[in-house]
Amino acid sequence: MILSDKHLKFREKVRQFADEVVAPRAIELDLNSEFPHDLVKKMGKMGLYGLYVPEKFGGSGKDTLSYAIAVEEVSRACGSTGIFLAAHTSLAVSPIYLAGNEFQKQKWLIPLAKGEKIGSFGLTEPNAGSDASGTRTIAKLVNDEYIINGDKCFITSGHVSDIIVITATKDPSLGYKGISAFVVEKGTPGFSPGKEEDKLGLRGSITSELIFEDCKIPKENLLGKEGDGFKIFMQTLDGGRISIGALALGIAQGALEHTIKFVRANTISGKPLYKEQSIQSKIAEIGTEIEAARLLIYQAAELKDAGKPLTKVAAMGKYYASLIGMKATNTAIEIHGMLGLTKKYPVERFIRDEKLMEIGEGTSEIQKIVIAREILGK
Ligand code: CAA
Repeated sequence: MILSDKHLKFREKVRQFADEVVAPRAIELDLNSEFPHDLVKKMGKMGLYGLYVPEKFGGSGKDTLSYAIAVEEVSRACGSTGIFLAAHTSLAVSPIYLAGNEFQKQKWLIPLAKGEKIGSFGLTEPNAGSDASGTRTIAKLVNDEYIINGDKCFITSGHVSDIIVITATKDPSLGYKGISAFVVEKGTPGFSPGKEEDKLGLRGSITSELIFEDCKIPKENLLGKEGDGFKIFMQTLDGGRISIGALALGIAQGALEHTIKFVRANTISGKPLYKEQSIQSKIAEIGTEIEAARLLIYQAAELKDAGKPLTKVAAMGKYYASLIGMKATNTAIEIHGMLGLTKKYPVERFIRDEKLMEIGEGTSEIQKIVIAREILGK
């Protein structure tokens, strides 16, 4: 696949921002577990949160391919900043764009797409992770309000979110058919962010619980119709998997580029490392795999832009990019030797950040279930 001049130009612009503004912050964000408020604002000003959203809803009116490129480039410099961009856009902007009515789009989509408000996505619960239809959070309609009770966990940007899209069921015995999607705003009585996780990687991103105790929201906060929630979230995740794939790809590309610098600058027994056949073989393998992952992810993005079914290719892209991403970051450490385990080089951060890609937005096992169903039929 050959990128158009328009996409190449856009990639250059985001790459320059990533190299000059994001990369210098990456080490301290990781070391101090610091959320990048400054970078979040700057990405908003660049229009990165609304790349596939029309201008009338606060977006930049580009496409999903541009969005995948943006996530890849930012993540090449910093996984924590990349996951913010991916979660905010794919998981908060997207379901409102997909299922919101005009009023909801005016109220929530515009500030999210412009980056004036921060969004997150509340699907996972202590007893409903991979089994997304096992939602136990209850939404009861009383007069003109839904009363929400339940807990969500591992929510990206949970603590800093202004607008949260959640699933809740009117009755867990109804399975996926009972689930609806709602928007809850920060400050709503009965809603509070709970414990924040201390994580292996992506330490500059926030992962936290969300707690709902008799949290009353207007019935206008329902997205789509009652019972539509599971499908809205599955469609949201189809798009989200493109961005997690792009994130995995960006981290792998970053690890490769740092390794290339390392093998050019270092020698073994007086011979440049890059001239060693065993090093060349490793670089050739991961270079090829990164390129193949990129093709899958770009193809999924193009399918989405064309309005064609993307479930299979998006799952393949996410599964494959996270698989080869772990291999690429591991190989990067092996080539650096002991130095690769130290904070002197960024490759130890890359492998820690990469691990989430095999787990978040559907584990690799879930991706294989989705891919197998698409290939074999249900
Ligand atoms: N698009 C539209 N509709 C879909 C769909 C899709 N991609 N996938 C399923 N559906 C529909 C089905 O057609 C079916 O509807 P009908 O009965 O009308 O045909 C309905 O939804 C139920 O589908 P399934 O029977 O396939 O549902 P299931 O219970 O077997 O679950 C699953 C399928 C794929 C395993 C799903 O539970 C899943 O994706 N689980 C993983 C959850 C996940 O990814 N969580 C990540 C949370 S977000 C996160 O991690 C964020 C972060 O911050 C990092």
